[in-house]
Amino acid sequence: MNNHDSLNHPETDNRLSELTLLYQFSNTMLSTMRLNKLTHLILTAITAPSSNLFERAVLFLRNEKSNVLQGMLAVTSKLSEGLEIVGGHDSLESRWDLSDEIISKQRSAEFCLQVRLTRLEIDGFCPLIRHIVSERSLCHSDDVLCQKCLSCHFIRPLCGGKFAAVPLVARENTIGMIVVDNPDSAREISSNNLHFLRLFANQAGMAIENSMLYNRIEDAHLNLKDARERLLHGERLAAIGEMAANLAHELKNPLIAIGGFAGRLLKSLPAETRDHQYADTIVSEVIRLEKMLSEVLAFSRKPTICFSYCDLEEIIQDCLISCTTAFEDHNIKVSLSCDARPWVVFGDAHQLKQVFLNLILNSCDAMPEGGQLDLTLEKTLHEKKTVIITFADTGGGIPKDMLSQIFNPFFTTKHHGTGLGLAITNRIILNHFGSIEVCNAGRGAVFTITLPLAE
Ligand SMILES: Nc1ncnc2c1ncn2[C@@H]1O[C@H](COP(=O)(O)OP(=O)(O)OP(=O)(O)O)[C@@H](O)[C@H]1O
Ligand SMILES: [Mg+2]
Repeated sequence: MNNHDSLNHPETDNRLSELTLLYQFSNTMLSTMRLNKLTHLILTAITAPSSNLFERAVLFLRNEKSNVLQGMLAVTSKLSEGLEIVGGHDSLESRWDLSDEIISKQRSAEFCLQVRLTRLEIDGFCPLIRHIVSERSLCHSDDVLCQKCLSCHFIRPLCGGKFAAVPLVARENTIGMIVVDNPDSAREISSNNLHFLRLFANQAGMAIENSMLYNRIEDAHLNLKDARERLLHGERLAAIGEMAANLAHELKNPLIAIGGFAGRLLKSLPAETRDHQYADTIVSEVIRLEKMLSEVLAFSRKPTICFSYCDLEEIIQDCLISCTTAFEDHNIKVSLSCDARPWVVFGDAHQLKQVFLNLILNSCDAMPEGGQLDLTLEKTLHEKKTVIITFADTGGGIPKDMLSQIFNPFFTTKHHGTGLGLAITNRIILNHFGSIEVCNAGRGAVFTITLPLAE
């Protein structure tokens, strides 16, 4: 037999096409980092009619936490026809690609959906699964081990009578397995094909592991970027806060003088005149500015907290009494529902009152034409005893793009607001080891405060 004859030998042809497949796969691995696409490419390559290997392939990946092999993807020859060879068959850069359309078709196929619901317990009764995972060796359904296996019904319905399962190994760890079979033709899985499957799975294991590491690094990078942005944001807010506090301090003295003199002018000018009206406006605007400056100063000062046992219902009732005129002026109906009492927390009653007043007054501002404000106190079902206080109004809610900003200092949509109300509220709640959240529900905004109850 000469060289030319040996090249035309079917056995040699098969070997050549297997080697080409492995070579193209290693090129594909280098250019495909996304795990999702990579898994589709892996299964499509071994089920593509052109590669003449298997008719179906199923991929399971190991879930370390729950110690199961989790069905991830299944591809059949019928949906493997779209494997594209990029860079030409004979080129050194030859690799595979798949269109998004084929990927989504494969993913939504009935068989794939069924596989994705499958979980195989690694420490369960199935010796086959244990064999694949711990011995890291290939299994063929003709193996004695599998014939005996009572739990093979996990795999049999998926893969028909005869199948082969090969572990995916990376750095001496079994990270998953690929199961293949030929359900349409019932063709035997040849020893050559099994040999190829083993070689292919070695590469696939490393490729999947690399892709998972890449995804993890990408996630960590995103988290870091996020943390850095939050830090910068915090620093910027701290700098703005310091500047605002200095400015507030400098403005306070001249403002006292302006207010004092404007007050004197007001008294000396005859009522009902234009000048009296001007002086009156100066006085009321100065009062507003003074209030704003005090709030800025209060916010920038480190708060001193006087903790004692206090009853939340009492504090809320107190706030409602303080706001009676605001409710009447705005035509707002208020309801308070407490399903159990007493609601005792270990906290600063004065500061908690400030929290509730901020939220109630914000709701009043949101309902200038009247509406309903519902306050509820209820317990959580958690082991740790906590109280949940909700403030739900009918003021139309908060635009979606603003929801993440309303707790930032100086964020306001009001002409006369300082934008410090919710920033102060948030800080007080955090100092009380609680949390505050907001969402839109029903016809308005719902603020939910969670506070630990006193023992
Ligand atoms: N119940 C609510 N309904 C609709 N929007 C709200 C509600 N509560 C707060 N907001 C929005 O959040 C913004 C920030 O509220 P925050 O209490 O911090 O400041 P403010 O009320 O504008 O000013 P300040 O409370 O300092 O006088 C408000 O300007 C408003 O746009
Ligand atoms: Mg406010």
